Parts: sequence; structure tokens; C-alpha cells
Amino acid sequence: MNFIRTALISVTVAFGAMFLQVTPPAAHSADAAPTFYRDVLPILQRHCQSCHRTGEIGQFPLTTYDQARHRAKEIRDTISARKMPPWFAEPRIGRFSNDPSLTPEEISTVVNWVNAKTPAGHPSAEAFTPSLTEGWNIPPPDVVLQMPKPVALPARGDIEYTYEIVPTGFTSDRWVRMSELRPSSRAHVHHAVVYIRPPDSAWLSHAPVGVPFTASTLTDEQDRREAHGTDSDLLLVYAPGSSPDLWPEGYAKFIPRGSALVFQMHYTANGHAASDQTSLGLVFLKTPPKQRVVTLQLTNHTFVIPPHDANYRVEAHGTLPNDATLLSFFPHMHLRGKRFEYNILHGAGRIEPLLRVNYHFHWQLSYRLAEPRPLKAGTWLQAVAWFDNSKDNRHNPDPDSEVRWGDQTYEEMMVGFFDVAISPDLDKWHYFIRPPAGPAQR
Ligand code: HEC
Repeated sequence: MNFIRTALISVTVAFGAMFLQVTPPAAHSADAAPTFYRDVLPILQRHCQSCHRTGEIGQFPLTTYDQARHRAKEIRDTISARKMPPWFAEPRIGRFSNDPSLTPEEISTVVNWVNAKTPAGHPSAEAFTPSLTEGWNIPPPDVVLQMPKPVALPARGDIEYTYEIVPTGFTSDRWVRMSELRPSSRAHVHHAVVYIRPPDSAWLSHAPVGVPFTASTLTDEQDRREAHGTDSDLLLVYAPGSSPDLWPEGYAKFIPRGSALVFQMHYTANGHAASDQTSLGLVFLKTPPKQRVVTLQLTNHTFVIPPHDANYRVEAHGTLPNDATLLSFFPHMHLRGKRFEYNILHGAGRIEPLLRVNYHFHWQLSYRLAEPRPLKAGTWLQAVAWFDNSKDNRHNPDPDSEVRWGDQTYEEMMVGFFDVAISPDLDKWHYFIRPPAGPAQR
């Protein structure tokens, strides 16, 4: 979050002179009640407005004094209970650069402001400086790629995963420093994945380009089989509430010239028919990166969750074939998801926890390490998921059923995506070529 604001300082637009003539507020004594413009607004700008502004997923904006005053008690209660801003990592494990949580001081500032009957204070010039560009949460993109054709979404029923292949038209290689996906009908998108399909890839090679399709409509046998499985690199994963991808200085994702992007959209019906035409914004690195970012995953497809089990454990693990630097995590489960962990297995039973997420289906977030973690070749990584298939899980569509892997939300998934940085001259396939001697296996 901090990163977003810093990056945007260069693109802020000062409003008209009207506000600039306002006298700056006098320095305040420590015991004066907090005021909106001086104390509360900066907190809302930093921690809330990425979602609570027009066009974003927070259901109401919190950008003006009247909007905040109107909801003052509700704001006080939700932040005191730490329900907002949404964040599900266990605080004692790991530090994350996109942790939007309020500090205890920030919480007491807002609480004191509400309890003091929401004094406005004096608007300063900064108070009217929009800190976020309209629409994008990243700086103005160098390129925006939109699905050429909208996808028609029915009001009801299961919607099969929908694909659209979007040619980039890039005539030179591109390094992507930041990317953000913006569905036009956010309420229908459960999650989306954008894959990079290089020009020499055979993946979905007979599928139509620039129009929506589903796996079952493909005529080519191999395309149909491979629609769900690819070794193509991911550009990004999107889910409601997830923040855009922003890589640390010198790190970037690679899109070879001539690539197409494959948008894989998981839409869910919500009672209203609509159409969606998702856009993707990209900010490029101007110089070659120090490190290339690739997305890997720890996945288990073979679980069977018994009916009524409130705490069913599913594990996946693997070793890294080469050195890498661990950057971030994105756990993915469905309605029965309860907890998700990432660990390093050091041997002799020693486990180093990296992240513990108290999973909430409506909030699929990425968790970016505040300090990237170097991993030596041969390191064992483990992902552990817990599922709650009991009737006490209020999201559970059917506690009587045995649940297996599947696309639909009443089926389950167990995917621990994680991003690593590797040498820029390696790609995902070369990264997985194990050295001849091979790291010691256990
Ligand atoms: C990542 C997006 C996001 C951020 C950041 C965020 N909110 Fe929300 N907020 C939502 C959404 C979406 C809802 C609707 C309820 C839900 O889905 O849980 C919501 C609901 C609320 C509600 C209604 C009460 C409730 O629990 O439903 C309040 C009050 C609120 N937010 C205040 C805040 C404040 C104050 C901040 C900053 C300190 C903040 N939010 C940060 C997305 C966000």
C-alpha cells in the first residue's frame, strides 16, 4: 500500500487555486481532538480509499468529510474489531509490504475523532489532492489491453471457465514492472488468471483469438485437454480485493515479443445478467531487470474431503531445482477453505513458517514479503491447506457431500501460488532443469 502511494506522488494533480489559498492549519497541541482534514483523511487515503472510492469494490466512497462523518460509528466499530482494512495473515508470522493494517495509534486517532463528534478542522491543499488516479491503482499504464469481445454472462447457473486470447502486438520484448486487471463487471468475477503465451507455444493453438470461448466448445482434442493445464508463465492472478502486482525495483515479469495473453476468467452468476470486458494495465521497466519474476505453484489435485469434516488437511510440497528469491504468495481455495500455510522444511522436523492465512473466501489476497527471502537450490517448500466441510461453515453449500478438485465453487481447489525471482536469462522451463548431480533428495 505504501508503495502505491509513493509511486503515485509523481502523478498527483493539485486542484484549483481556490483550495491552495486556504491557510495551513496551526500546529496542534497533543491533547486537542483529532480533526478530519488534519488527522483522519490521511489515514483514509492510505488505508481505505484504494477500495472505498467510486468505481472500486468498497460499497461506498470514503473520500469526503460528509461521507466519512455519515458512517463515523460504523467506521469506528469495524476498525476497532480489525475487520477493515481486510487482511488475513497471522500477525506473528512474516512481515508483508502490502499489509494495510492500521497501527494502534491510527486506530485511536479515528476512534477519538468519532468520539469527539467528528470535528472537520481546516481543509488543507493536500486534503484535496487526489492520491489515486481515477480507475487505475497503478500509475498510468504504458499499455492497456482489453479483451476484444465482451463476454455475455447469464443471471443464473454454473458458468464454465471462459477464455479469451488477447494478442499483445508487441514487436519488442517487454519487462512488466506493474500490472493490474480491471473487470468491467467486477461483481461477476470470482477470480481470473492471465497467462503469457509466447509465439512458439503450442498451447491452445487451434483456439479462436479475440473472442470468448470455453474448453467444452473447442473442437481440437488436445486444446480441450490442455485448456486447464499449461506450463505457460502467469502474468498475474486477480481476485476481488487483491492488490495489483508491483515488483520491487529491478524485478519484472517477461513478455516475449509476439506473445499473446490468455485471459482465463472464472465468472459466477449472481442473479443479474451482465457482460464483462476486462482490461489489463501494464507499466514497463525501461531498462533490463536484475531479476526475472516467475510464478510457481504448490498444488494437490487428489484430495477427497469427507462430509462433515471441520478440519481436513491437504498438503503439497516440492524442492526448488535452482536458487531463487521468494517474493510473494497467493493462496487459492473455494468455499470450504479455512486456513492456508506456507513453510520451509529444513529437515530433522524443523519447520520455518512463512505465512499463515485465516482464509476467507470473499477475500483472496496476495501477501508480499517485506524482505524478499533467498532460497538455495534444494530447499523444500510446503503448502498446507485446511478445509471446513461442516455445517458450521456458513459458506458451505453442502456439508453432506464428499468434495474433490473442480472448477466450480462448490468443488474445491488447493493452490499455493508463489512468486520467485530468478536470473533474467532463465525462463520457467529452464529453471526446472535440475543440475546433473541433483540436490540431495530425502
Ligand atoms: C481491499 C479493499 C478494501 C479496503 C482497503 C477497505 N475496505 Fe472497507 N469494505 C470493503 C468491501 C468490499 C466492503 C463490503 C463488505 C464486505 O465485503 O466485507 C467493505 C465494508 C466496509 C464497511 C461496512 C461494514 C462491514 O463490515 O461491512 C466499513 C465501515 C468499511 N468497509 C470501512 C473501511 C475503512 C475505514 C477502511 C480503511 C481503514 C476500509 N474499509 C478499507 C473493501 C475495503
